[in-house]
Amino acid sequence: MSDLFSPLSLRDCEIPNRIAVSPMCQYSCDPDGLPTEWHRVHLGSRAVGGAGIVMTEATAVSPEGRITPHDLGIWSDEHAEALRPITEFVREQGSVPAIQLAHAGHKASKTRPWDGNVPIAPDEIDPDGADGWEVLSPSPDAYPPFSGDRPAMRKATQDDIEGVIEAYRDAAERSLEAGFEIAEVHAAHGYLLHEFLSPVTNRREDDYGGSFEDRTRLLREVVRAVRDVWPEGKPVFVRISGTDWLEDRDSWDVDQSVRLADDLAELGVDLIDVSSGGLHPEQDAPGGPNFQVPLAEAVRQGSDAAVGAVGGITEPEQADALVRNDRTDLVLVGREFLRDPYFGLRAAEDLETDAPEEWPIQYRRAVR
Ligand code: FNR
Repeated sequence: MSDLFSPLSLRDCEIPNRIAVSPMCQYSCDPDGLPTEWHRVHLGSRAVGGAGIVMTEATAVSPEGRITPHDLGIWSDEHAEALRPITEFVREQGSVPAIQLAHAGHKASKTRPWDGNVPIAPDEIDPDGADGWEVLSPSPDAYPPFSGDRPAMRKATQDDIEGVIEAYRDAAERSLEAGFEIAEVHAAHGYLLHEFLSPVTNRREDDYGGSFEDRTRLLREVVRAVRDVWPEGKPVFVRISGTDWLEDRDSWDVDQSVRLADDLAELGVDLIDVSSGGLHPEQDAPGGPNFQVPLAEAVRQGSDAAVGAVGGITEPEQADALVRNDRTDLVLVGREFLRDPYFGLRAAEDLETDAPEEWPIQYRRAVR
């Protein structure tokens, strides 16, 4: 058996292989945050396609935490109910359903990428007629110069912060109701929790800004709230940006990520999903195959946490080597899963001698 197809046990959760569908926004909801047939088919196909974990896109814990008015949400029982058929189908295919819980902070209320990805003011509408809203920021004066002015930002008050923590707790409870096995807290890519982590976007002078301990406080409190309601036997992941890629200034970097990973592991986080950047338009990020893997490797070596690697992973042999060489515990695949929903099956066919066993019975006549 290849290393990519060795199971991964986290708490009571048995993940059949090391391949996960990386969270990817589909911007395909009506402005109510409810999943549509698109989500069922999109996520369902990747479960059929052999992914060990199928993770939802960034799923907003509150309406103002959406990146666009068309993002998925989990802020009511109706959302949980609507997601349940999706988790059931994913599970029936032998995959583990996971949900990424998100709050977009000051990068919220934007148009979809194909509509320009520009801020929508509270008194404006997007091309589909959906309303914008006032967004939450740790420090509005430190809003990075993304394209388009950011017209209406509120500096998060103590009440806002408590509201965010509660929203995460409620979202985790609803995710459980919806049938998810893994909850991932999104603390990467310049969204709210990352905005608090990085000194570039966090200039607060209260308990939530300044020192490493204060900048990481909100994330730790969110994780504590999620872990509180998430069953002992089920895993919690956190996605971080391993670095801001802003070495010319005081910013978030890999050393802080390693230190954070240990703190999170102590709070009961099972895996750190290591991405990078997204905080500032002047980031100096490399690209290409495996470009974020060294960050995941550094977190794995420097802390007690298991890690996921993501970014530029497109080939079965490449993914297998990452696990075989102990560079990561899990491989998250994004765009390659958009090109090929059956990436997992293709990998099994390439790497496994008994590949037909990995294929859904309905499809086996297609395999040699
Ligand atoms: C993304 N990405 C992303 N990341 C995340 O944490 N939450 C999200 O909702 C999204 N949304 C999203 C949408 C689309 C269309 C793309 C292409 C990407 C980032 C994604 O999960 C992944 O980290 C990157 O795409 C890098 O991995 P690949 O694509 O090189 O395998």
